Amino acid sequence: MNTVTENVKFKVADQSLAEEGRLLIDWAESRMPVLMSLREKFAKTQPLKGQRITGCLHVTKETAVLIRTLKAAGAEVAWSGCNPLSTHDAVAAALSQEDIGIFAWYGQNTEEFYWSIDRTLDFKPTLTLDDGADLIFRVHAEHPNLFEGIIGGSEETTTGVHRLRAMADDGKLMYPVIAVNDAETKWDFDNVYGTGQSSLDGILRATSVLLAGKNFVTAGYGHCGKGCAMRAKGMGANVITTEIKPTAALKATLEGVQVMTMDEAAKVGDVFITTTGMKDVIVKRHFESMKDGAIVCNTGHYDCELNLEDLAELTVNKREMRDNCIEHTLADGRRIYVLAEGRLVNLAAAEGHPSEVMDMSFANQFQAMMMLAEKGKDLERGVHELPEELDQEIAKIKLDSMGLDLDELTPDQIAYATDYSQGT
Ligand code: ADE
Repeated sequence: MNTVTENVKFKVADQSLAEEGRLLIDWAESRMPVLMSLREKFAKTQPLKGQRITGCLHVTKETAVLIRTLKAAGAEVAWSGCNPLSTHDAVAAALSQEDIGIFAWYGQNTEEFYWSIDRTLDFKPTLTLDDGADLIFRVHAEHPNLFEGIIGGSEETTTGVHRLRAMADDGKLMYPVIAVNDAETKWDFDNVYGTGQSSLDGILRATSVLLAGKNFVTAGYGHCGKGCAMRAKGMGANVITTEIKPTAALKATLEGVQVMTMDEAAKVGDVFITTTGMKDVIVKRHFESMKDGAIVCNTGHYDCELNLEDLAELTVNKREMRDNCIEHTLADGRRIYVLAEGRLVNLAAAEGHPSEVMDMSFANQFQAMMMLAEKGKDLERGVHELPEELDQEIAKIKLDSMGLDLDELTPDQIAYATDYSQGT
């Protein structure tokens, strides 16, 4: 932590990177028209005035556009990253000069990670904004004194929403949380096209291998697995998927993706990516049967999908080959390459989802904060969804920004849709 600049209001790696960070944020702003239109609209009315928003979400150029938008709408903002390897130090430096309580730097250890969350909680939030629910868990476990002032929170990701629903079912969730993940303009775009492109980007930046002709294995064929599979297929890979859910496996097979168990896939795969949100998806017996040169990575939120302790037990030699690419040599000479320490390969080895996709995800986050500020006090404790009309509104602004027009139903067609006297 030698290079860390300390200040009561923020802590980042290197403030001299701020100009680089500002350019990155400006670049993202030019590709995020939905969020920018919300900024323009609400900068005038300041609906978030008086709100203190504490966020725990990857510090990227896209997140900076969200933060600036929350601030423009009147909120005070404090922020930490939600993954030790995803903070873009230049972006963090820029934010530290914009009156944001930012506590984030690349390569945090666990203690620094929670220290940073705790510093953002010193701001005594009225609203929390999460990706992975670590902030909400921290409030519940260590800072229950803050419940009184917190109106509500939001959650970005599938894994986080699952856990919060379990917490709510057990009666343990102490405030209302909006499941941003469940908005169609989030999961049906971010999880599929965002994860697909950015994960392949991370794999290629870390390895520069040719994907054409390779056996590319996605553990899981949910939205994220499907996105990775689509993009790998587009680059000429033979795609294989492993699943536990019959309907997902059936979809994969009808989409031309081979389905097999991980025990079988481990023997033939060249590149493996876990997308499941589950722990121990690739374990010792799988590493033991992999081919020489296999590349292994993860794009799920937590770094528990690859059991790297198991791999360590099999490893006789380790070398860092390139950024985010570690070679493990096994006793018989086979080599397995692990990318980004098994953490989110798209954020650790590349720049996360492209701005155009995060535009919609973060428009939903912004709307969640607005909804909570407006009527959060009337919401019950538990997990809530954003109204469906918002999805259509966000999609419409996005389409307008792309210059794409829609047809409209005539009054006669509208009547036809509900006319039960008509048959064949
Ligand atoms: N999650 C995935 N991609 C992201 C990005 N670019 N910014 C913030 N969170 C992300």
